[in-house]
Amino acid sequence: MLRLTTAGESHGPALVGILTGLPAGLALDRDAIDGDLARRQQGYGRSPRQQIEHDRVEVLAGVRHGRTLGTPLALVVTNRDHKNWEWGMSPWPPETEPEGKGTKPVTLPRPGHADLAGTLKYGHNDVRNTLERASARQTAMTVAAGAVVKALLADIDVAVAGAVMDMGDVDEAKAERDTVGGVVEVRARGVPPGLGSYATKEQRLDARLAAALMGIQAVKGVEIGAGFALAGLRGSEAHDEILRDENGLHRETNRAGGIEGGVSNGEEIVVRAAMKPLPTLMRPLRSVDLATGEAGEALVERSDTAAVEALSVVAEASVAFELGRAAREKFGGDAIGDFVAAYGAYVERIPWQPR
Ligand SMILES: Cc1cc2nc3c(=O)[nH]c(=O)nc-3n(C[C@H](O)[C@H](O)[C@H](O)COP(=O)(O)O)c2cc1C
Repeated sequence: MLRLTTAGESHGPALVGILTGLPAGLALDRDAIDGDLARRQQGYGRSPRQQIEHDRVEVLAGVRHGRTLGTPLALVVTNRDHKNWEWGMSPWPPETEPEGKGTKPVTLPRPGHADLAGTLKYGHNDVRNTLERASARQTAMTVAAGAVVKALLADIDVAVAGAVMDMGDVDEAKAERDTVGGVVEVRARGVPPGLGSYATKEQRLDARLAAALMGIQAVKGVEIGAGFALAGLRGSEAHDEILRDENGLHRETNRAGGIEGGVSNGEEIVVRAAMKPLPTLMRPLRSVDLATGEAGEALVERSDTAAVEALSVVAEASVAFELGRAAREKFGGDAIGDFVAAYGAYVERIPWQPR
Protein backbone atom coordinates (compact mmCIF):
# COMPACT_ATOMS: atom_id res chain seq x y z
CA MET A 1 0.00 0.00 0.00
CA LEU A 2 1.43 3.35 -1.05
CA ARG A 3 1.53 5.54 2.06
CA LEU A 4 3.09 8.86 3.07
CA THR A 5 3.69 9.81 6.70
CA THR A 6 4.96 13.33 7.30
CA ALA A 7 6.21 15.49 10.15
CA GLY A 8 7.54 19.00 10.33
CA GLU A 9 6.67 22.51 11.47
CA SER A 10 6.68 25.53 9.20
CA HIS A 11 9.72 27.12 10.90
CA GLY A 12 11.24 23.94 12.37
CA PRO A 13 14.50 22.52 10.99
CA ALA A 14 12.90 20.46 8.21
CA LEU A 15 9.92 18.65 6.74
CA VAL A 16 10.24 14.89 6.88
CA GLY A 17 8.38 12.24 4.88
CA ILE A 18 8.42 8.45 4.98
CA LEU A 19 7.05 7.02 1.74
CA THR A 20 6.32 3.30 1.66
CA GLY A 21 4.82 0.95 -0.91
CA LEU A 22 6.85 1.71 -4.04
CA PRO A 23 8.18 -1.17 -6.11
CA ALA A 24 11.94 -1.72 -6.42
CA GLY A 25 13.78 -0.50 -9.49
CA LEU A 26 11.72 2.63 -10.17
CA ALA A 27 14.02 5.24 -11.77
CA LEU A 28 13.85 8.63 -10.04
CA ASP A 29 15.17 11.96 -11.28
CA ARG A 30 16.28 14.36 -8.57
CA ASP A 31 15.83 17.35 -10.90
CA ALA A 32 12.21 16.39 -11.58
CA ILE A 33 11.43 16.34 -7.84
CA ASP A 34 13.28 19.61 -7.20
CA GLY A 35 11.60 21.07 -10.31
CA ASP A 36 8.16 20.43 -8.81
CA LEU A 37 9.29 21.89 -5.48
CA ALA A 38 10.41 25.03 -7.34
CA ARG A 39 7.08 25.22 -9.20
CA ARG A 40 5.25 25.16 -5.84
CA GLN A 41 7.22 28.20 -4.73
CA GLN A 42 6.33 30.31 -7.75
CA GLY A 43 3.32 32.29 -8.85
CA TYR A 44 1.73 35.68 -8.33
CA GLY A 45 1.17 36.78 -4.79
CA ARG A 46 3.72 34.62 -2.93
CA SER A 47 5.44 36.11 0.10
CA PRO A 48 9.18 36.91 0.38
CA ARG A 49 9.61 33.64 2.31
CA GLN A 50 9.76 31.91 -1.07
CA GLN A 51 12.97 33.82 -1.81
CA ILE A 52 14.53 32.36 1.34
CA GLU A 53 13.54 28.74 0.86
CA HIS A 54 14.72 27.32 -2.54
CA ASP A 55 13.38 23.88 -1.63
CA ARG A 56 15.37 20.78 -2.50
CA VAL A 57 14.73 17.17 -1.56
CA GLU A 58 17.28 15.09 0.31
CA VAL A 59 16.79 11.35 0.11
CA LEU A 60 18.11 9.59 3.22
CA ALA A 61 16.88 6.07 2.51
CA GLY A 62 15.18 3.81 -0.01
CA VAL A 63 17.00 4.94 -3.18
CA ARG A 64 20.40 3.87 -4.50
CA HIS A 65 22.02 5.34 -7.60
CA GLY A 66 18.71 6.75 -8.81
CA ARG A 67 16.53 3.66 -8.36
CA THR A 68 14.16 2.68 -5.56
CA LEU A 69 15.15 -0.31 -3.43
CA GLY A 70 11.58 -1.42 -2.61
CA THR A 71 12.17 -0.21 0.96
CA PRO A 72 10.76 2.91 2.69
CA LEU A 73 11.96 6.20 1.23
CA ALA A 74 13.02 8.83 3.78
CA LEU A 75 12.67 12.33 2.33
CA VAL A 76 13.76 15.61 3.89
CA VAL A 77 13.10 19.19 2.79
CA THR A 78 15.09 21.63 4.91
CA ASN A 79 13.50 24.89 6.10
CA ARG A 80 16.19 27.47 5.39
CA ASP A 81 14.17 30.06 7.30
CA HIS A 82 14.74 27.99 10.47
CA LYS A 83 17.98 29.86 11.12
CA ASN A 84 15.84 32.89 12.06
CA TRP A 85 13.72 30.78 14.41
CA GLU A 86 16.31 28.66 16.22
CA TRP A 87 15.37 30.01 19.62
CA GLY A 88 11.65 30.28 18.85
CA MET A 89 11.35 26.72 17.49
CA SER A 90 13.95 24.99 19.67
CA PRO A 91 12.69 21.50 20.62
CA TRP A 92 14.24 21.87 24.09
CA PRO A 93 13.94 24.80 26.50
CA PRO A 94 16.57 27.20 25.15
CA GLU A 95 19.43 28.02 27.49
CA THR A 96 20.26 31.32 25.78
CA GLU A 97 18.52 34.72 25.86
CA PRO A 98 15.50 34.97 23.51
CA GLU A 99 16.57 36.01 20.02
CA GLY A 100 15.20 35.86 16.48
CA LYS A 101 11.58 35.16 15.63
CA GLY A 102 8.91 33.35 17.63
CA THR A 103 10.05 34.59 21.05
CA LYS A 104 6.68 36.04 22.11
CA PRO A 105 3.54 33.89 22.46
CA VAL A 106 0.85 34.50 19.83
CA THR A 107 -2.53 35.05 21.49
CA LEU A 108 -4.62 36.70 18.73
CA PRO A 109 -5.99 33.93 16.49
CA ARG A 110 -6.61 34.65 12.81
CA PRO A 111 -10.17 34.08 11.57
CA GLY A 112 -10.05 31.46 8.81
CA HIS A 113 -6.86 29.80 10.07
CA ALA A 114 -6.58 26.80 12.40
CA ASP A 115 -5.44 29.18 15.17
CA LEU A 116 -8.51 29.30 17.41
CA ALA A 117 -9.95 25.83 16.91
CA GLY A 118 -6.54 24.14 17.12
CA THR A 119 -5.43 26.07 20.20
CA LEU A 120 -8.66 25.27 22.06
CA LYS A 121 -8.51 21.63 21.00
CA TYR A 122 -4.92 20.97 22.12
CA GLY A 123 -4.92 23.25 25.18
CA HIS A 124 -2.04 25.40 23.96
CA ASN A 125 -1.29 28.78 25.48
CA ASP A 126 0.62 29.95 22.40
CA VAL A 127 -1.22 29.90 19.06
CA ARG A 128 2.16 29.24 17.40
CA ASN A 129 1.96 25.66 18.70
CA THR A 130 -1.02 25.25 16.37
CA LEU A 131 -0.14 27.41 13.40
CA GLU A 132 3.32 25.95 12.83
CA ARG A 133 1.93 22.60 11.72
CA ALA A 134 -1.39 23.87 10.32
CA SER A 135 0.59 26.05 7.89
CA ALA A 136 0.68 24.99 4.26
CA ARG A 137 4.48 24.80 4.43
CA GLN A 138 3.95 21.04 4.80
CA THR A 139 2.63 20.93 1.22
CA ALA A 140 6.29 20.94 0.13
CA MET A 141 6.45 17.30 1.26
CA THR A 142 3.17 16.55 -0.53
CA VAL A 143 4.80 17.86 -3.70
CA ALA A 144 8.06 15.91 -3.20
CA ALA A 145 6.16 12.63 -2.67
CA GLY A 146 3.82 13.43 -5.57
CA ALA A 147 6.82 13.92 -7.86
CA VAL A 148 8.11 10.47 -6.89
CA VAL A 149 4.71 8.91 -7.59
CA LYS A 150 4.48 10.73 -10.94
CA ALA A 151 7.57 8.73 -11.98
CA LEU A 152 5.70 5.51 -11.11
CA LEU A 153 2.66 6.65 -13.12
CA ALA A 154 4.85 7.64 -16.08
CA ASP A 155 5.93 3.99 -16.36
CA ILE A 156 2.32 3.10 -17.21
CA ASP A 157 1.95 6.20 -19.42
CA VAL A 158 -0.19 8.18 -17.00
CA ALA A 159 0.54 11.93 -16.91
CA VAL A 160 -0.93 14.32 -14.34
CA ALA A 161 -0.99 18.12 -14.71
CA GLY A 162 -2.51 20.93 -12.67
CA ALA A 163 -3.44 24.43 -13.87
CA VAL A 164 -5.04 27.61 -12.53
CA MET A 165 -8.55 28.13 -13.92
CA ASP A 166 -9.58 31.27 -12.10
CA MET A 167 -8.10 33.61 -9.52
CA GLY A 168 -8.84 36.99 -7.94
CA ASP A 169 -6.89 40.14 -8.85
CA VAL A 170 -3.65 39.82 -6.86
CA ASP A 171 -2.23 43.30 -7.59
CA GLU A 172 -5.39 45.00 -6.46
CA ALA A 173 -5.74 42.81 -3.36
CA LYS A 174 -2.11 43.34 -2.38
CA ALA A 175 -2.46 47.12 -2.67
CA GLU A 176 -5.45 46.88 -0.36
CA ARG A 177 -3.55 44.55 1.99
CA ASP A 178 -6.08 41.85 1.30
CA THR A 179 -5.91 38.29 -0.09
CA VAL A 180 -7.61 36.28 -2.85
CA GLY A 181 -8.46 32.68 -3.69
CA GLY A 182 -9.23 30.87 -6.92
CA VAL A 183 -9.92 27.61 -8.70
CA VAL A 184 -7.45 24.99 -9.95
CA GLU A 185 -7.96 22.00 -12.22
CA VAL A 186 -6.02 18.75 -12.38
CA ARG A 187 -6.19 16.43 -15.39
CA ALA A 188 -4.76 12.92 -15.59
CA ARG A 189 -4.33 11.36 -19.03
CA GLY A 190 -3.84 7.69 -19.78
CA VAL A 191 -5.54 6.42 -16.63
CA PRO A 192 -6.83 2.93 -17.50
CA PRO A 193 -10.38 1.91 -16.64
CA GLY A 194 -10.62 0.10 -13.32
CA LEU A 195 -8.79 2.19 -10.71
CA GLY A 196 -10.87 2.47 -7.52
CA SER A 197 -14.01 0.44 -6.89
CA TYR A 198 -17.74 0.75 -6.32
CA ALA A 199 -17.46 -2.09 -3.75
CA THR A 200 -17.16 0.19 -0.69
CA LYS A 201 -17.29 3.93 -0.28
CA GLU A 202 -13.68 3.99 0.95
CA GLN A 203 -12.55 2.47 -2.34
CA ARG A 204 -14.41 4.92 -4.62
CA LEU A 205 -11.86 6.84 -6.66
CA ASP A 206 -13.99 10.00 -6.70
CA ALA A 207 -14.24 9.94 -2.88
CA ARG A 208 -10.50 9.37 -2.59
CA LEU A 209 -9.60 12.20 -4.94
CA ALA A 210 -12.02 14.53 -3.14
CA ALA A 211 -10.41 13.65 0.21
CA ALA A 212 -6.93 14.11 -1.25
CA LEU A 213 -7.84 17.60 -2.48
CA MET A 214 -9.86 18.58 0.61
CA GLY A 215 -6.83 17.52 2.63
CA ILE A 216 -4.95 20.53 1.25
CA GLN A 217 -5.10 23.72 3.30
CA ALA A 218 -7.65 26.32 2.09
CA VAL A 219 -9.47 23.97 -0.33
CA LYS A 220 -13.19 24.37 0.33
CA GLY A 221 -14.83 22.76 -2.70
CA VAL A 222 -14.07 19.88 -5.06
CA GLU A 223 -15.74 18.97 -8.36
CA ILE A 224 -15.29 15.86 -10.47
CA GLY A 225 -15.98 16.43 -14.18
CA ALA A 226 -18.95 18.75 -14.70
CA GLY A 227 -19.57 18.53 -10.93
CA PHE A 228 -22.16 20.99 -9.63
CA ALA A 229 -23.32 21.84 -13.17
CA LEU A 230 -24.58 18.24 -13.57
CA ALA A 231 -27.28 18.95 -11.02
CA GLY A 232 -29.00 21.31 -13.47
CA LEU A 233 -28.87 19.04 -16.54
CA ARG A 234 -31.23 16.37 -17.85
CA GLY A 235 -29.89 12.81 -17.81
CA SER A 236 -29.84 12.80 -21.60
CA GLU A 237 -27.50 15.83 -21.55
CA ALA A 238 -25.38 14.80 -18.58
CA HIS A 239 -24.06 11.34 -19.38
CA ASP A 240 -21.31 10.40 -21.80
CA GLU A 241 -22.47 7.98 -24.51
CA ILE A 242 -20.36 4.85 -25.03
CA LEU A 243 -18.89 4.45 -28.53
CA ARG A 244 -16.43 2.09 -30.14
CA ASP A 245 -13.79 2.63 -32.83
CA GLU A 246 -10.68 0.74 -33.96
CA ASN A 247 -8.87 1.74 -30.72
CA GLY A 248 -11.59 0.35 -28.47
CA LEU A 249 -14.29 1.95 -26.35
CA HIS A 250 -14.42 5.70 -25.98
CA ARG A 251 -16.66 8.69 -25.26
CA GLU A 252 -17.21 11.88 -27.23
CA THR A 253 -17.91 13.85 -24.06
CA ASN A 254 -16.43 13.59 -20.56
CA ARG A 255 -18.85 15.21 -18.16
CA ALA A 256 -18.17 12.40 -15.69
CA GLY A 257 -14.55 13.54 -15.46
CA GLY A 258 -13.28 10.03 -16.13
CA ILE A 259 -14.97 8.33 -13.16
CA GLU A 260 -18.25 6.37 -13.04
CA GLY A 261 -19.39 4.36 -10.03
CA GLY A 262 -16.21 5.31 -8.18
CA VAL A 263 -14.10 3.60 -10.87
CA SER A 264 -11.92 5.22 -13.53
CA ASN A 265 -13.60 4.64 -16.91
CA GLY A 266 -10.62 5.17 -19.22
CA GLU A 267 -11.34 8.82 -20.06
CA GLU A 268 -9.24 11.70 -18.81
CA ILE A 269 -9.66 12.30 -15.07
CA VAL A 270 -10.74 15.92 -14.51
CA VAL A 271 -11.05 17.38 -11.01
CA ARG A 272 -11.27 20.95 -9.76
CA ALA A 273 -10.63 22.49 -6.36
CA ALA A 274 -11.79 25.87 -5.03
CA MET A 275 -9.39 27.75 -2.75
CA LYS A 276 -10.63 30.32 -0.28
CA PRO A 277 -8.79 33.66 0.14
CA LEU A 278 -5.82 33.20 2.49
CA PRO A 279 -6.62 34.02 6.11
CA THR A 280 -3.54 36.05 7.12
CA LEU A 281 -4.40 39.66 6.32
CA MET A 282 -2.04 42.62 6.48
CA ARG A 283 -5.16 44.61 7.44
CA PRO A 284 -6.29 42.16 10.11
CA LEU A 285 -9.83 41.14 11.00
CA ARG A 286 -11.24 41.43 14.50
CA SER A 287 -10.21 38.79 16.98
CA VAL A 288 -10.04 38.19 20.73
CA ASP A 289 -6.85 37.96 22.78
CA LEU A 290 -6.93 34.45 24.26
CA ALA A 291 -4.69 35.49 27.18
CA THR A 292 -6.74 38.51 28.32
CA GLY A 293 -10.19 38.05 26.74
CA GLU A 294 -9.88 41.57 25.32
CA ALA A 295 -11.00 42.48 21.80
CA GLY A 296 -8.11 42.93 19.38
CA GLU A 297 -6.88 42.41 15.84
CA ALA A 298 -5.68 39.10 14.48
CA LEU A 299 -2.03 38.13 14.16
CA VAL A 300 -0.18 39.67 11.22
CA GLU A 301 2.65 37.45 10.00
CA ARG A 302 4.54 37.39 6.71
CA SER A 303 2.14 35.79 4.31
CA ASP A 304 1.09 35.22 0.71
CA THR A 305 -1.53 37.39 -1.00
CA ALA A 306 -2.50 34.40 -3.12
CA ALA A 307 -1.26 30.84 -3.47
CA VAL A 308 -3.50 29.58 -6.27
CA GLU A 309 -0.61 28.71 -8.59
CA ALA A 310 1.09 26.90 -5.73
CA LEU A 311 -2.18 25.06 -5.07
CA SER A 312 -2.25 23.86 -8.69
CA VAL A 313 1.11 22.13 -8.07
CA VAL A 314 0.06 20.72 -4.69
CA ALA A 315 -3.26 19.50 -6.15
CA GLU A 316 -1.41 17.87 -9.05
CA ALA A 317 0.84 16.05 -6.57
CA SER A 318 -2.12 15.01 -4.41
CA VAL A 319 -4.08 13.61 -7.37
CA ALA A 320 -0.95 11.83 -8.65
CA PHE A 321 -0.40 10.28 -5.24
CA GLU A 322 -3.96 8.96 -5.01
CA LEU A 323 -3.90 7.62 -8.58
CA GLY A 324 -0.54 5.99 -7.83
CA ARG A 325 -2.03 4.39 -4.72
CA ALA A 326 -4.98 3.05 -6.73
CA ALA A 327 -2.63 1.79 -9.47
CA ARG A 328 -0.46 -0.03 -6.88
CA GLU A 329 -3.61 -1.70 -5.51
CA LYS A 330 -4.62 -2.85 -8.99
CA PHE A 331 -1.26 -3.86 -10.48
CA GLY A 332 0.87 -4.70 -7.40
CA GLY A 333 4.36 -6.08 -7.95
CA ASP A 334 7.57 -5.99 -5.91
CA ALA A 335 9.70 -4.91 -8.87
CA ILE A 336 8.77 -2.11 -11.29
CA GLY A 337 8.82 -4.64 -14.13
CA ASP A 338 6.13 -6.73 -12.39
CA PHE A 339 3.96 -3.64 -11.99
CA VAL A 340 4.33 -2.60 -15.64
CA ALA A 341 3.78 -6.19 -16.85
CA ALA A 342 0.55 -6.49 -14.83
CA TYR A 343 -0.66 -3.21 -16.37
CA GLY A 344 0.27 -4.49 -19.84
CA ALA A 345 -1.56 -7.80 -19.37
CA TYR A 346 -4.66 -6.01 -18.11
CA VAL A 347 -4.74 -3.51 -20.98
CA GLU A 348 -4.32 -6.44 -23.36
CA ARG A 349 -7.48 -8.02 -21.88
CA ILE A 350 -9.82 -5.00 -22.15
CA PRO A 351 -11.09 -3.12 -25.22
CA TRP A 352 -9.28 0.10 -24.31
CA GLN A 353 -6.14 1.91 -25.36
CA PRO A 354 -4.63 5.08 -23.98
CA ARG A 355 -5.42 8.02 -26.28
C1 LIG B 1 0.19 26.42 -1.11
C2 LIG B 1 -0.54 27.13 -0.01
C3 LIG B 1 0.00 28.29 0.55
C4 LIG B 1 -0.66 28.96 1.57
N1 LIG B 1 -0.11 30.10 2.07
C5 LIG B 1 -0.77 30.77 3.05
C6 LIG B 1 -0.25 31.98 3.56
O1 LIG B 1 0.82 32.45 3.17
N2 LIG B 1 -0.96 32.63 4.50
C7 LIG B 1 -2.15 32.15 4.98
O2 LIG B 1 -2.76 32.76 5.83
N3 LIG B 1 -2.66 30.99 4.52
C8 LIG B 1 -2.01 30.29 3.57
N4 LIG B 1 -2.55 29.13 3.10
C9 LIG B 1 -3.84 28.67 3.62
C10 LIG B 1 -3.81 28.21 5.06
O3 LIG B 1 -2.75 27.27 5.28
C11 LIG B 1 -5.15 27.58 5.47
O4 LIG B 1 -6.19 28.47 5.13
C12 LIG B 1 -5.18 27.31 6.96
O5 LIG B 1 -4.24 26.28 7.26
C13 LIG B 1 -6.56 26.89 7.49
O6 LIG B 1 -7.01 25.72 6.89
P1 LIG B 1 -8.36 25.70 6.04
O7 LIG B 1 -8.35 26.92 5.16
O8 LIG B 1 -8.31 24.44 5.25
O9 LIG B 1 -9.51 25.74 6.98
C14 LIG B 1 -1.91 28.45 2.05
C15 LIG B 1 -2.44 27.29 1.49
C16 LIG B 1 -1.78 26.63 0.47
C17 LIG B 1 -2.39 25.39 -0.13
